[in-house]
Amino acid sequence: MKRWTVQTVVEAKGKTKLGCVTAYDAAFARLADEAGVPIILVGDSMGNNVLGYSNTLNVELEDTLRAVGAVVRGVKNAMVVADMPFGTYQAGQDQAVANAIRCIKAGADAVKLEGASVETCLLIQRLVSIGVPVLAHVGMQPQSVNVYGGFKKQGKTRESADKVMADARAVEAAGAFMVTLECIPSELAASITAALSIPTIGIGAGPVCDAQWLVMHDLLGLNEQVPGFVRKYADLARTVREAFGAYVADVAASRFP
Ligand code: KIV
Repeated sequence: MKRWTVQTVVEAKGKTKLGCVTAYDAAFARLADEAGVPIILVGDSMGNNVLGYSNTLNVELEDTLRAVGAVVRGVKNAMVVADMPFGTYQAGQDQAVANAIRCIKAGADAVKLEGASVETCLLIQRLVSIGVPVLAHVGMQPQSVNVYGGFKKQGKTRESADKVMADARAVEAAGAFMVTLECIPSELAASITAALSIPTIGIGAGPVCDAQWLVMHDLLGLNEQVPGFVRKYADLARTVREAFGAYVADVAASRFP
């Protein structure tokens, strides 16, 4: 199996659709890598899925750096992307660049950041110019949950759809090698995928993107409540609960050890 790089991911556009996942530790990253997952995102969704928060806003750079190191130690071929947490790239360009460099030094192959404002596009340009590949993120941006007043689908009106399309074009022009399209109508995702020369990677954005994200805990059924667009490929919550229960019962009944 080949090692996935920015170049091979970009070259896959129009040829192979890529099923990509999040992971936050070495054990699951190794299994995803062995299964052929091309891109593993150390997502700030660790806030919900690992740290027990209701959103991503409390994740700290140190949480991400620690998890990036673990994931990188687990993989051989997957590309590892560090999702820059809220507050690590919004307070100024120099601080953002320094934090992105820390992600790369922790072992990430690229960083992901949300938004397409003028400041964010300038940051993308600067990161790419110093050798940090950027995976952009437009549409619904979970770090803006308090602005939206909840996790709300974007691009539903003409005006909002035009904004998401303009954002996608802006991050491409700034030098992003790929763009996440989160929670937008599938027709809009299809139009953006056709309009851009970089690959799109969708989550809740329909089937026509060049690649897909699924959050590991949703895919594996570790999360029992999942968004409507998710397909569960396993029911690990039940398997794990049953295993813990069987162990507790065996110890109580002196069947183990
Ligand atoms: O952190 C995350 O899980 C994400 C998704 C878009 C995959 O950013």
